[in-house]
Formats: sequence, structure tokens, C-alpha cells
Amino acid sequence: MLHPVNYHAQLHMLSVINLLSKMSQLKLCVLGGTGKTGRHFVSQALANNHEVMTISRRPHKLAQFANNKNLLNYKADIFKPEELVEPFSKSDVVVSMMGFHTRPWPINGYVRTTNSIVRAMQMADKKRLVVLHGVLTKHESRLEPHPYGAFMNNVILRIFGPIFDDINEAEMILRIAGESIDWTAVAPGYLLSNKSGPTDKEIVAKEDAYYINEASTFMQRSDVARYMLRVVEQDLHKGGKVVAIAVP
Ligand SMILES: NC(=O)c1ccc[n+]([C@@H]2O[C@H](COP(=O)([O-])OP(=O)(O)OC[C@H]3O[C@@H](n4cnc5c(N)ncnc54)[C@H](OP(=O)(O)O)[C@@H]3O)[C@@H](O)[C@H]2O)c1
Repeated sequence: MLHPVNYHAQLHMLSVINLLSKMSQLKLCVLGGTGKTGRHFVSQALANNHEVMTISRRPHKLAQFANNKNLLNYKADIFKPEELVEPFSKSDVVVSMMGFHTRPWPINGYVRTTNSIVRAMQMADKKRLVVLHGVLTKHESRLEPHPYGAFMNNVILRIFGPIFDDINEAEMILRIAGESIDWTAVAPGYLLSNKSGPTDKEIVAKEDAYYINEASTFMQRSDVARYMLRVVEQDLHKGGKVVAIAVP
């Protein structure tokens, strides 16, 4: 029981202990860890002393971390849930930074991996999922006066619209999964690749939003990874949320 005199001090101490325990070592299962954003995430997660299990067909792309005893790769087919159950069952959080392009056709990589991840997490009895998606996935949001303007509507969506639609459908699958999956979909705008690590710029986040006004439409991949790691470590945006992020 808390002593009444030191009540506030003890409460403060408890919240610090709570935060520290959440910052302690986690077992993370990462899909897409060999990608341009995924490699930043793996690097930052290892730097924070987490155990990282990647599921990758090309683990040599993470050769720079080969000597890190906290990194382990599973070779599995991401579209086969039965092959994901074992690594998922050994992890606290599943993180997907998968990315699919306009080829091969048809574009359904997000739907297929989301189905596979959800099924495998249910089989492994795991709940927490953090995924990298993108802005303007919901159709209605594209009709609003979003900061990406005419270039997005007239060029980007004409070329990459099927990818946005695939992600939108994947988000519907996550909603249908209901409480069996505690998911967060992080949605940045246009991604840039800086050679150095993450910046220390403030990152703004808005839940249930598909873009953020009054912020840059560009963001460094290393900063996207930084925010995703924060979501994982601090258990942010829980309970099935699409979270738009941007740098003011
Ligand atoms: N580009 C942008 O401006 C932008 C904007 C907003 C959001 N996003 C989102 O950001 C995410 C990541 O982007 P990125 O540029 O970092 O991606 P990326 O470099 O293309 O990486 C994609 C990752 O997915 C993996 N992958 C793809 N197909 C696979 C398959 N069939 N089997 C196994 N692994 C497969 C790749 O593995 P391999 O290494 O084995 O190929 C790689 O690890 C995407 O979800 C994208 O929608 C992008």
C-alpha cells in the first residue's frame, strides 16, 4: 500500500519503473527487415539491446549485423502461416516492414501477408502487431484536401493506386480480426533514404488519420524506423489504430 505522505513521489517512482520495464529487452519478430526501412529498424532495435528474429529469404542483406548475438534469421515463406508460427511463438511483438511494388501483377502482397500474419499470430496465441503502411490508404481520405495535392492524385495514385488499395484491404483484414490482434499501422508519407542514422527531429502522430496537415510530406526511413521502435517499446497506439506520422 502507498504511504500517504509520499504518495505522489511513490506514484512517480512506479511510473518510472513501469516505463523502464517496458524499455527492457523485447523479443521482436521482424518481417521485411532486409528492406530499406527494415534495415534501419533492425539496426536500431539491436542498438537498444532487443532480441531480433528476422524472417527473410535474403538474410545476407543483414550481413553487417552477423556478429550480433541478438540477431537470428528464420527462413520461412511469409505467405505460409504454418511456417511463421514457430518464430511468432518465441516473440513478444511481431513487426512487419514488408513492401511490395507494382510488379508482379496482381498486387496483393499486403493482403496475402496480412492474412498469413494474422492466422499465424492466432495459431501462436500472440496479439501485438506493428506494421508499416502508408498515408491515404482509405479511399475517402484521398478526396479530402490532403497535403499531397494534385501530384498525388494525378500521378502517384494513378501509378501506385493498386498498392494503396492493397494496403487498405489489409487494414480491413486487421479490423475484421477484432480483438484477437492488437495492431498498430504506422502511416508515413513519401520516404527518403539518408545514409546516416535517425535524426532527433520531433515526429508528430495522429491516430485514425490517413495524412497530417501542416507537416512535411517527406520523411527519412531512419526516422520512420525510430518511431516504429518507439511504438513497440512504449506500447503506443494500441487497439487497432492507423497512425499517420510526419515531421513538422
Ligand atoms: N516508398 C515510399 O515513399 C513509401 C511511402 C509510405 C509508405 N511506404 C511503405 O514503406 C514500406 C517499406 O518500404 P521500403 O522502401 O523500406 O521497402 P523495400 O526496401 O522495398 O523492402 C521491402 C521488404 O519486403 C520484403 N519482401 C517483399 N516481397 C517479399 C516476398 N515475396 N517474400 C519475402 N520478402 C519480401 C523484402 O525482402 P527482400 O529483401 O528479400 O526483397 C524487403 O525486406 C512499404 O510497406 C511501403 O508501402 C513507402
